[in-house]
Amino acid sequence: MSNNSLAFRHNEEKILSGIIPTKYKKILKHVEGNNILEVGAAEGVLSLLVAKENPNRHVIGLERHSLRYETSIELQKRWAINNCKFIKGEFIENFHLLKGIDTFIGIRTIYYFLHDTDKIFSEISKNCSRLILGGNANRSFGSGAKRSIKGITEISVSGLNPNLDYAPYQKVGRNPNYYASARGMEEIGKKYGYETELLINETNKIDPLYVGTKK
Ligand SMILES: C[S@@+](CC[C@H](N)C(=O)[O-])C[C@H]1O[C@@H](n2cnc3c(N)ncnc32)[C@H](O)[C@@H]1O
Repeated sequence: MSNNSLAFRHNEEKILSGIIPTKYKKILKHVEGNNILEVGAAEGVLSLLVAKENPNRHVIGLERHSLRYETSIELQKRWAINNCKFIKGEFIENFHLLKGIDTFIGIRTIYYFLHDTDKIFSEISKNCSRLILGGNANRSFGSGAKRSIKGITEISVSGLNPNLDYAPYQKVGRNPNYYASARGMEEIGKKYGYETELLINETNKIDPLYVGTKK
């Protein structure tokens, strides 16, 4: 993979000129605290917006993909935002970044954690009181899911809606794409001691969003 992310490429001109896709904006109001870590920050759009919202914040955006990381550095210069730091690296090798973090953000990222999922969320839960996870409607119910999840073909695309019976999907619980769905993200939050503050179910057009908190 040597490209910038699809979401970035689709909106590149707008993003560069400062027009921000709604999908990032609607996450901003759920961010709390002054120390924020985004993992899978890609080209850095969300991390930069979170930093821009509040100059007292310290935001870290971690990304393992070289080109995306480099694009984030360029975007940061272009937008002149100083309270955000981008780091290139693999999350399991950078757990020290979690120290002192209030809000952990992972948008369209946690299904890449694969067999490290439990190890990762165990570390997150020791450090962060707030968890913001975003999924991927296409992976959870669309063509991507159909290709990769055994059993998912039982669910027809025309049946995509938040009131769907998710039982057949739950059967495949450990498949990574499960964590691209609202139910999967909420399950992982609960498992690691977070109470659900917000859960937006996926539709065929809208990505799911989960916000969990710890008292
Ligand atoms: C589908 S992209 C989503 C990008 C962005 N968060 C968004 O919603 O537009 C997922 C990103 O997470 C990064 N990523 C996945 N697992 C990671 C890990 N363990 N450590 C660092 N980056 C990771 C990938 O390189 C990729 O750029």
